[in-house]
Amino acid sequence: MRATSTRESSTRESSTMAPKHIEDDARPSSCVGARVERGDEGAAATTTPKVALVLGVTGQTGSYLTDLLLSKGYIVHGLTHSTWQNYPERLRHVMCASSPFRSSFVLHQGDILEFEALVRLFEHVKPCEIYNLAAQSSVHLSFQQPLSTVKSVGLGVFNVIEAIRTVNQAIKLFQASSSEIFGKTKVFPQRETTPPCPCSPYANAKLMAHQAVIMHREAYGLYAVSGILYNHESSRRGANFVTQKIVTAAVRIKHGLQQQVELGNLNSRRDWGHAQDFVVCMWKMLQLDEPEDFIVATGKTHTVRQFVTFAFKAVGIDVEFQNSGTEEIGINKATGEVIVKVDPKYFRPDEPIQTVGDSTKAFELLQWQPEIDLAQLIEEMVTACEWRLIHGDKQTPTRIRGSAG
Ligand code: GDD
Repeated sequence: MRATSTRESSTRESSTMAPKHIEDDARPSSCVGARVERGDEGAAATTTPKVALVLGVTGQTGSYLTDLLLSKGYIVHGLTHSTWQNYPERLRHVMCASSPFRSSFVLHQGDILEFEALVRLFEHVKPCEIYNLAAQSSVHLSFQQPLSTVKSVGLGVFNVIEAIRTVNQAIKLFQASSSEIFGKTKVFPQRETTPPCPCSPYANAKLMAHQAVIMHREAYGLYAVSGILYNHESSRRGANFVTQKIVTAAVRIKHGLQQQVELGNLNSRRDWGHAQDFVVCMWKMLQLDEPEDFIVATGKTHTVRQFVTFAFKAVGIDVEFQNSGTEEIGINKATGEVIVKVDPKYFRPDEPIQTVGDSTKAFELLQWQPEIDLAQLIEEMVTACEWRLIHGDKQTPTRIRGSAG
């Protein structure tokens, strides 16, 4: 796919939410994008690409979603809270000079808590789909920063919805909800109908956002939906999440760059999928005629301890666990060295013991199911980590799935 915009511009790397900074070229007047001319074996055809806005675009999931939307011919606008130099690492492959998608992507900087700026952004971009992935995403951090978490996660979605109501009620909204809303539930696996029972500031804020979506959908007839996302990982995962922390440690220990890794709750069970699979479901959720919420999960659950075992195995190290509680250690079977320890500073005051989701509804209504299993996920993460070790702290080369680019 190669969308060549008639408003082709060589620089789309940065703009801000304030309209005066947004490149003021030929914006479409409806909720679709600029008209493009596309060559098809010599016969010129005119198509009108859809315009999507991804809030939180520089995160792991935002970057995969951007890849997917671009491969489908969308014009993609992304909003990030962060500042960056040149361009954010996770979007390097989209924004670099050699990218075939460079002119189809526009990065904006701003904050979803700035309502007026959000309205101006929506008016300017004229998206037909908005994906809200913008928020503080660490459950652990939410115990230390509960108020800022509630603001970005909980209040942020009210701003987004109110801005949609102000600008164009026809805009479809995807909200990233979370398996954390089920918290202390005793129902396994969880379904869309499972009663929530949040047990962290993050989970409470996510539930607030989740219910705000339902409330606005029912009260105003908006097309607003929540994907209840279970843990989704990849080589682009941030270093503070347990999968990336474990894989990075395993690779570094293998190369003699680190002696051991300290972890928190090894008994915790999570339903780990691949972010690249999950964004497909998110997109499908906005293509239905009627808005529906969905569980987005693999249906398989593993302990953190099992993830440690698999990740070390992937780098050629067999781990044996001994003792229990805070005394538990993981031994390198070949050398007898302690390579895993428990450090209570990584424990949380409370958390779900087990998350596991039932995505039957997504399978039946969206024909969605995950394609990448845990072994493949770990292999990809290990390979990427090895690559980063060799080439410096850079994102691995990316090929956008489904594109010829
Ligand atoms: N981060 C971290 N660091 N977690 C650890 C550690 C550690 O050293 N040791 C054990 N864990 C355990 C946590 O207690 C938790 O049970 C599990 O590993 C996973 O932790 P995270 O990777 O931090 O993810 P999360 O489950 O808390 O939340 C993620 O998934 C949610 C559901 O999709 C985040 O991405 C959330 O934003 C998301 O909503």
